[in-house]
Amino acid sequence: RRQLTMDPAAGLMMEGVALAAIARAHGTPTWVYSAGTLRRRLGLLQGALDDARAKAQVHFAVKANPNLAVLRTLAEAGAGADVVSEGELRLARAAGIAADHIVFSGVGKTLAEIRYALAEGIQQINAESAEEVEMISAIATAMGVEAPVALRVNPDVDAKTHAKITTGKSENKFGIAIGDAPALYARMASLPGIRPVGVAVHIGSQITAGVSAYRIAYGHLADLVRALRAQGLPVERVDCGGGLGIPYRDEPPPAPAALAGAIAATLGNLGVELMVEPGRWISGPAGVLLASVILQKTGAERRFVVVDAAMNDLVRPAMYDAWHGIVPVSPADYVAPIAPCDVVGPICETGDTFTRNRGLPSLDPGSLVAFLDAGAYGASMSSTYNSRPLAAEILVDGDRFAVVRERQTQEALLAGQKLPSWLAGAT
Ligand code: LLP
Repeated sequence: RRQLTMDPAAGLMMEGVALAAIARAHGTPTWVYSAGTLRRRLGLLQGALDDARAKAQVHFAVKANPNLAVLRTLAEAGAGADVVSEGELRLARAAGIAADHIVFSGVGKTLAEIRYALAEGIQQINAESAEEVEMISAIATAMGVEAPVALRVNPDVDAKTHAKITTGKSENKFGIAIGDAPALYARMASLPGIRPVGVAVHIGSQITAGVSAYRIAYGHLADLVRALRAQGLPVERVDCGGGLGIPYRDEPPPAPAALAGAIAATLGNLGVELMVEPGRWISGPAGVLLASVILQKTGAERRFVVVDAAMNDLVRPAMYDAWHGIVPVSPADYVAPIAPCDVVGPICETGDTFTRNRGLPSLDPGSLVAFLDAGAYGASMSSTYNSRPLAAEILVDGDRFAVVRERQTQEALLAGQKLPSWLAGAT
């Protein structure tokens, strides 16, 4: 399915590599990413934007997948980055993305983070409040630099996505109300240390209900650009945000061409530089989480397949009731009869359930399964809850594969903890 193919002998393959071979060599749970899929999807998106004459710079949202090798692969294919912390900025720089291809977003950037970003020569800071604009002005003035600042506006549109990941409604914490934008933009132009470069918007994530919310938001943005220019204010850039959804199950997500069309129709004639900040659409389908069955247990009411991955690895089902495809790796498991089961992790809470009532064959201990579309908000949201080490990450490229993040060791898990002087055992 998608980036995976089935080899009758070797089982599920990612590009030219058998997932079973990866599990044998490096154990489970393990994240596996396809470099070919990353490049292909970046190219598809870039191509759709070019075709629609909405030529935009693609800035990958690092939060979706901050793996250095993933970022490097995308950087080599021409992507810039959208970052939301000093840590992400450092990762993007370490991956070889030039500072003038990096946008810094976020509702609560600290003084130190803003200073760091300006010292790096960041392409653009997306400011989200009047307070932040003053903060940036003070820092930039003290540093003797001009901060390129775009204003993130909240267009008050409903992207019809999960409540926890919708961002463009007026009740959300993000951006500044579009009605307040002209006055604040004018203030930006008058402040020392600030060069107003444009406006930005991001209305939510996993948007699957067509592009009408985008169209409305971008329409408001275009009106704003015209109003600002009518006041004599310079607007050179519009940042269109991310959020394009993917079909985890059978949702028909809007095609990149539809998004590109919405951008072209609303913002295409303004003579502004455009940028987009997709995360999930690029890296989600490029990754799987590979896990082993620990055991199958027959409960009073149902069969439980207990795997060695858990909510600390992939939290999306527990956090958003998200649906991920779960497929066996071995060819034999595709001809066996299917029956409903719950797939669960070993963590001590009921929320550690990946799915209920999914049709899967009987899976012996040691059988491998792959959680699909796990290349975005998978490893990046994992934790060590239940003192489980962070899983390894592997990059596949053609018939090569390499560990791109070592599995965390038990020693590393303990490192950094200290006993205070008053407890026995302190050194
Ligand atoms: N730009 C900004 C300002 C954002 O806040 C985000 C995501 C993106 C771009 C990229 O959005 P994408 O294209 O990936 O939808 N953890 C959640 C998703 C949270 C998204 C947060 N912001 C999940 O697992 O579904």
